[in-house]
Amino acid sequence: MPRNIIDVTDLTVEEINELIATAEDIIASPAKYQAACAHKQLATLFFEPSTRTRLSFESAMLALGGSVLGFSEAASSSTAKGETVGDTVHTVSCYADIIAMRHPKEGAPFAAAQFSEVPIINAGDGGHNHPTQTLTDLLTIHREKGRLDGFTIGFCGDLKFGRTVHSLVNALSRYENIRFVLISPMELKLPRYVKEEALKKRGIPYEQTDSLDAVMPKLDILYMTRVQKERFFNEEDYLRLKDSYILTPEKLENAKADLSILHPLPRVNEISVAVDRDPRAAYWKQVKNGKFIRMALIMKLLDIQV
Ligand code: NCD
Repeated sequence: MPRNIIDVTDLTVEEINELIATAEDIIASPAKYQAACAHKQLATLFFEPSTRTRLSFESAMLALGGSVLGFSEAASSSTAKGETVGDTVHTVSCYADIIAMRHPKEGAPFAAAQFSEVPIINAGDGGHNHPTQTLTDLLTIHREKGRLDGFTIGFCGDLKFGRTVHSLVNALSRYENIRFVLISPMELKLPRYVKEEALKKRGIPYEQTDSLDAVMPKLDILYMTRVQKERFFNEEDYLRLKDSYILTPEKLENAKADLSILHPLPRVNEISVAVDRDPRAAYWKQVKNGKFIRMALIMKLLDIQV
Protein backbone atom coordinates (compact mmCIF):
# COMPACT_ATOMS: atom_id res chain seq x y z
CA MET A 1 0.00 0.00 0.00
CA PRO A 2 1.46 3.43 -0.87
CA ARG A 3 1.68 6.06 1.89
CA ASN A 4 -1.22 8.54 1.63
CA ILE A 5 -1.76 11.87 3.37
CA ILE A 6 -5.52 12.18 3.81
CA ASP A 7 -5.59 13.72 7.28
CA VAL A 8 -2.87 15.76 8.99
CA THR A 9 -2.62 13.09 11.70
CA ASP A 10 -1.41 10.65 9.03
CA LEU A 11 1.91 12.33 9.88
CA THR A 12 3.41 12.10 13.38
CA VAL A 13 4.51 15.26 15.15
CA GLU A 14 8.13 14.13 14.61
CA GLU A 15 7.52 13.75 10.88
CA ILE A 16 5.92 17.20 10.69
CA ASN A 17 8.89 18.70 12.50
CA GLU A 18 11.21 16.93 10.02
CA LEU A 19 9.21 18.31 7.07
CA ILE A 20 9.56 21.80 8.52
CA ALA A 21 13.32 21.31 8.89
CA THR A 22 13.56 20.10 5.27
CA ALA A 23 11.51 23.08 4.06
CA GLU A 24 13.86 25.42 5.94
CA ASP A 25 16.83 23.76 4.24
CA ILE A 26 15.13 24.09 0.83
CA ILE A 27 14.61 27.81 1.49
CA ALA A 28 18.29 28.19 2.49
CA SER A 29 19.79 26.04 -0.31
CA PRO A 30 17.31 25.56 -3.18
CA ALA A 31 19.97 24.48 -5.71
CA LYS A 32 20.64 21.33 -3.68
CA TYR A 33 17.13 20.11 -4.46
CA GLN A 34 16.75 21.07 -8.11
CA ALA A 35 17.12 17.53 -9.48
CA ALA A 36 15.76 15.63 -6.47
CA CYS A 37 12.66 14.42 -8.36
CA ALA A 38 14.13 14.14 -11.88
CA HIS A 39 12.03 11.70 -13.96
CA LYS A 40 9.23 11.71 -11.39
CA GLN A 41 5.72 12.89 -12.23
CA LEU A 42 3.11 14.57 -10.07
CA ALA A 43 -0.55 14.53 -11.13
CA THR A 44 -2.89 17.21 -9.84
CA LEU A 45 -6.54 16.11 -10.01
CA PHE A 46 -8.66 19.10 -9.07
CA PHE A 47 -12.42 18.53 -9.11
CA GLU A 48 -12.89 21.90 -7.37
CA PRO A 49 -11.45 25.40 -8.06
CA SER A 50 -8.00 26.33 -6.78
CA THR A 51 -5.21 28.82 -7.41
CA ARG A 52 -2.58 28.42 -4.68
CA THR A 53 -2.88 24.76 -3.80
CA ARG A 54 -2.70 23.39 -7.34
CA LEU A 55 -0.08 25.82 -8.59
CA SER A 56 2.07 25.44 -5.47
CA PHE A 57 2.02 21.65 -5.90
CA GLU A 58 2.99 22.04 -9.55
CA SER A 59 5.60 24.68 -8.81
CA ALA A 60 7.01 22.47 -6.02
CA MET A 61 7.41 19.47 -8.35
CA LEU A 62 8.98 21.60 -11.11
CA ALA A 63 11.45 23.09 -8.60
CA LEU A 64 12.44 19.52 -7.69
CA GLY A 65 13.21 18.77 -11.35
CA GLY A 66 10.10 16.62 -11.83
CA SER A 67 7.19 17.11 -14.19
CA VAL A 68 3.46 17.59 -13.79
CA LEU A 69 0.21 16.52 -15.46
CA GLY A 70 -3.44 16.69 -14.52
CA PHE A 71 -6.66 18.65 -14.80
CA SER A 72 -8.06 21.66 -13.01
CA GLU A 73 -11.79 21.01 -13.38
CA ALA A 74 -13.95 17.92 -13.38
CA ALA A 75 -15.59 19.01 -16.65
CA SER A 76 -12.37 18.41 -18.59
CA SER A 77 -11.90 14.85 -17.28
CA SER A 78 -13.85 11.64 -17.92
CA THR A 79 -15.89 12.45 -14.81
CA ALA A 80 -18.04 14.38 -17.28
CA LYS A 81 -18.74 11.05 -19.05
CA GLY A 82 -19.78 9.39 -15.81
CA GLU A 83 -16.49 7.75 -14.81
CA THR A 84 -16.15 7.08 -11.07
CA VAL A 85 -13.47 8.90 -9.07
CA GLY A 86 -11.97 5.48 -8.26
CA ASP A 87 -11.50 4.62 -11.94
CA THR A 88 -10.10 8.08 -12.73
CA VAL A 89 -7.56 7.79 -9.93
CA HIS A 90 -6.69 4.19 -10.87
CA THR A 91 -5.97 5.41 -14.42
CA VAL A 92 -3.84 8.36 -13.35
CA SER A 93 -1.88 6.19 -10.93
CA CYS A 94 -0.73 4.20 -14.01
CA TYR A 95 0.96 7.38 -15.34
CA ALA A 96 2.08 9.39 -12.31
CA ASP A 97 4.32 8.66 -9.30
CA ILE A 98 2.25 10.74 -6.87
CA ILE A 99 -1.20 12.39 -6.94
CA ALA A 100 -2.58 15.52 -5.27
CA MET A 101 -6.37 15.51 -5.36
CA ARG A 102 -9.05 18.05 -4.43
CA HIS A 103 -12.73 17.15 -4.42
CA PRO A 104 -15.95 18.82 -3.21
CA LYS A 105 -17.10 15.64 -1.42
CA GLU A 106 -15.83 14.95 2.09
CA GLY A 107 -13.88 11.68 2.13
CA ALA A 108 -13.40 11.45 -1.67
CA PRO A 109 -9.55 11.37 -1.53
CA PHE A 110 -9.72 8.65 1.14
CA ALA A 111 -12.08 6.57 -1.01
CA ALA A 112 -10.03 7.20 -4.15
CA ALA A 113 -6.82 6.13 -2.42
CA GLN A 114 -8.14 2.56 -2.29
CA PHE A 115 -7.84 2.48 -6.10
CA SER A 116 -4.40 4.06 -6.40
CA GLU A 117 -1.05 2.39 -6.87
CA VAL A 118 0.82 5.57 -5.88
CA PRO A 119 0.62 7.98 -2.88
CA ILE A 120 -2.44 10.26 -2.75
CA ILE A 121 -2.34 13.63 -1.05
CA ASN A 122 -5.65 15.21 0.00
CA ALA A 123 -5.53 18.76 -1.39
CA GLY A 124 -8.89 19.63 0.22
CA ASP A 125 -12.07 17.53 0.55
CA GLY A 126 -15.28 19.53 0.83
CA GLY A 127 -15.76 21.17 4.21
CA HIS A 128 -13.64 18.50 5.91
CA ASN A 129 -9.83 18.68 5.80
CA HIS A 130 -6.89 20.32 4.06
CA PRO A 131 -3.69 18.79 5.48
CA THR A 132 -1.16 20.47 3.17
CA GLN A 133 -2.54 23.93 3.94
CA THR A 134 -1.95 22.99 7.57
CA LEU A 135 1.68 22.09 6.85
CA THR A 136 1.97 25.50 5.17
CA ASP A 137 0.43 27.17 8.23
CA LEU A 138 2.74 25.30 10.62
CA LEU A 139 5.84 26.25 8.63
CA THR A 140 4.65 29.87 8.64
CA ILE A 141 4.00 29.88 12.41
CA HIS A 142 7.39 28.27 12.99
CA ARG A 143 9.13 30.91 10.87
CA GLU A 144 7.22 33.79 12.45
CA LYS A 145 7.34 32.68 16.09
CA GLY A 146 10.34 30.32 16.15
CA ARG A 147 8.26 27.60 17.82
CA LEU A 148 5.07 25.55 17.59
CA ASP A 149 4.02 25.62 21.24
CA GLY A 150 3.06 28.04 23.99
CA PHE A 151 0.87 30.59 22.21
CA THR A 152 -2.72 31.80 21.95
CA ILE A 153 -4.26 31.41 18.50
CA GLY A 154 -7.58 32.90 17.44
CA PHE A 155 -9.49 31.34 14.54
CA CYS A 156 -11.94 33.85 13.08
CA GLY A 157 -14.72 33.58 10.50
CA ASP A 158 -16.29 30.47 9.03
CA LEU A 159 -15.14 27.78 11.45
CA LYS A 160 -17.99 25.47 10.40
CA PHE A 161 -17.16 24.97 6.73
CA GLY A 162 -13.51 26.09 6.75
CA ARG A 163 -11.53 22.90 6.19
CA THR A 164 -8.19 24.62 6.79
CA VAL A 165 -9.37 25.48 10.31
CA HIS A 166 -10.39 21.88 11.06
CA SER A 167 -7.00 20.52 10.00
CA LEU A 168 -4.98 23.21 11.78
CA VAL A 169 -6.90 22.85 15.07
CA ASN A 170 -6.29 19.11 14.86
CA ALA A 171 -2.58 19.54 14.15
CA LEU A 172 -1.95 22.17 16.84
CA SER A 173 -3.79 20.15 19.49
CA ARG A 174 -0.77 17.81 19.46
CA TYR A 175 1.65 20.57 20.53
CA GLU A 176 2.11 21.79 24.12
CA ASN A 177 0.40 24.68 25.84
CA ILE A 178 -1.64 26.17 23.01
CA ARG A 179 -4.72 28.20 23.89
CA PHE A 180 -7.51 28.18 21.29
CA VAL A 181 -9.90 31.08 20.84
CA LEU A 182 -12.75 30.30 18.43
CA ILE A 183 -14.31 33.46 17.01
CA SER A 184 -17.40 33.07 14.81
CA PRO A 185 -21.10 33.83 14.52
CA MET A 186 -23.34 31.25 16.25
CA GLU A 187 -24.21 29.65 12.91
CA LEU A 188 -20.58 29.11 11.88
CA LYS A 189 -19.12 27.57 15.02
CA LEU A 190 -16.42 24.89 14.87
CA PRO A 191 -18.17 21.52 14.26
CA ARG A 192 -18.73 19.41 17.35
CA TYR A 193 -16.74 16.50 15.90
CA VAL A 194 -13.60 18.64 15.58
CA LYS A 195 -14.02 19.94 19.13
CA GLU A 196 -14.57 16.41 20.46
CA GLU A 197 -11.72 14.74 18.61
CA ALA A 198 -9.08 17.43 18.75
CA LEU A 199 -9.79 19.47 21.88
CA LYS A 200 -12.06 17.69 24.37
CA LYS A 201 -10.45 14.25 24.02
CA ARG A 202 -7.07 15.77 24.81
CA GLY A 203 -8.47 17.97 27.60
CA ILE A 204 -7.38 21.19 25.86
CA PRO A 205 -9.12 24.32 27.13
CA TYR A 206 -10.69 26.64 24.54
CA GLU A 207 -13.06 29.58 24.48
CA GLN A 208 -15.76 30.48 21.97
CA THR A 209 -16.92 34.02 21.27
CA ASP A 210 -18.53 36.08 18.54
CA SER A 211 -16.44 39.19 19.32
CA LEU A 212 -13.05 39.59 17.65
CA ASP A 213 -12.55 42.97 19.37
CA ALA A 214 -12.95 41.48 22.84
CA VAL A 215 -10.21 38.88 22.40
CA MET A 216 -7.81 40.72 20.07
CA PRO A 217 -5.40 41.90 22.84
CA LYS A 218 -4.60 38.37 23.99
CA LEU A 219 -3.86 36.81 20.58
CA ASP A 220 -0.35 35.83 19.43
CA ILE A 221 -1.71 34.53 16.12
CA LEU A 222 -4.91 35.50 14.32
CA TYR A 223 -6.05 33.01 11.65
CA MET A 224 -8.67 34.74 9.48
CA THR A 225 -10.90 32.82 7.06
CA ARG A 226 -13.44 33.66 4.39
CA VAL A 227 -17.10 32.69 4.68
CA GLN A 228 -17.32 29.58 2.45
CA LYS A 229 -20.06 30.66 0.04
CA GLU A 230 -20.02 27.42 -1.97
CA ARG A 231 -20.88 25.30 1.06
CA PHE A 232 -24.03 27.20 2.10
CA PHE A 233 -27.43 25.65 1.48
CA ASN A 234 -29.11 28.98 0.81
CA GLU A 235 -27.91 32.35 -0.41
CA GLU A 236 -29.88 34.28 2.20
CA ASP A 237 -27.78 32.82 5.04
CA TYR A 238 -24.56 33.56 3.15
CA LEU A 239 -25.56 37.17 2.54
CA ARG A 240 -26.45 37.61 6.22
CA LEU A 241 -23.13 36.19 7.46
CA LYS A 242 -20.59 37.14 4.81
CA ASP A 243 -19.52 40.43 6.41
CA SER A 244 -19.39 39.17 10.00
CA TYR A 245 -15.70 40.09 10.40
CA ILE A 246 -13.64 42.57 8.43
CA LEU A 247 -10.10 43.12 9.68
CA THR A 248 -8.93 46.72 9.25
CA PRO A 249 -5.91 48.68 10.57
CA GLU A 250 -8.23 50.27 13.19
CA LYS A 251 -9.27 46.85 14.53
CA LEU A 252 -5.59 46.01 14.98
CA GLU A 253 -4.93 49.00 17.22
CA ASN A 254 -5.36 46.98 20.42
CA ALA A 255 -3.55 43.87 19.09
CA LYS A 256 -0.12 42.71 20.28
CA ALA A 257 2.90 44.27 18.56
CA ASP A 258 4.17 40.79 17.64
CA LEU A 259 0.83 39.36 16.47
CA SER A 260 1.06 37.22 13.30
CA ILE A 261 -1.93 37.42 10.96
CA LEU A 262 -2.51 34.33 8.83
CA HIS A 263 -5.11 33.56 6.17
CA PRO A 264 -5.10 30.53 3.83
CA LEU A 265 -6.44 32.78 1.03
CA PRO A 266 -8.36 33.46 -1.15
CA ARG A 267 -9.65 36.49 0.73
CA VAL A 268 -12.92 38.10 -0.22
CA ASN A 269 -13.32 41.13 2.04
CA GLU A 270 -12.49 39.79 5.51
CA ILE A 271 -9.06 41.46 5.53
CA SER A 272 -8.89 44.95 4.13
CA VAL A 273 -6.06 45.48 1.62
CA ALA A 274 -4.63 48.21 3.90
CA VAL A 275 -3.67 45.47 6.41
CA ASP A 276 -1.24 44.02 3.82
CA ARG A 277 1.19 46.82 4.67
CA ASP A 278 1.15 45.96 8.38
CA PRO A 279 4.36 44.07 9.32
CA ARG A 280 2.18 41.64 11.28
CA ALA A 281 0.49 40.42 8.06
CA ALA A 282 2.05 37.02 7.28
CA TYR A 283 -0.38 35.71 4.66
CA TRP A 284 1.71 36.52 1.59
CA LYS A 285 4.70 34.82 3.21
CA GLN A 286 2.35 31.90 3.88
CA VAL A 287 1.71 31.60 0.11
CA LYS A 288 5.46 31.23 -0.53
CA ASN A 289 5.88 28.75 2.31
CA GLY A 290 3.23 26.53 0.73
CA LYS A 291 5.57 25.68 -2.12
CA PHE A 292 8.55 24.76 0.11
CA ILE A 293 6.64 22.52 2.49
CA ARG A 294 5.01 20.72 -0.46
CA MET A 295 8.49 20.13 -1.91
CA ALA A 296 9.46 18.53 1.39
CA LEU A 297 6.28 16.41 1.45
CA ILE A 298 6.64 15.18 -2.13
CA MET A 299 10.23 14.08 -1.42
CA LYS A 300 9.15 12.30 1.75
CA LEU A 301 6.33 10.38 0.08
CA LEU A 302 8.58 9.39 -2.83
CA ASP A 303 11.26 8.40 -0.31
CA ILE A 304 13.86 10.70 -1.83
CA GLN A 305 16.76 12.02 0.24
CA VAL A 306 19.33 14.54 -0.93
C1 NCD B 1 -8.52 27.25 1.22
C2 NCD B 1 -9.31 26.04 0.77
O1 NCD B 1 -9.34 25.71 -0.42
O2 NCD B 1 -9.88 25.41 1.64
N1 NCD B 1 -7.71 27.76 0.22
C3 NCD B 1 -6.46 27.24 0.05
O3 NCD B 1 -6.30 26.08 -0.25
N2 NCD B 1 -5.41 28.03 0.28
C4 NCD B 1 -9.34 28.27 1.90
C5 NCD B 1 -10.58 28.78 1.23
O4 NCD B 1 -10.93 28.38 0.12
O5 NCD B 1 -11.21 29.63 1.86
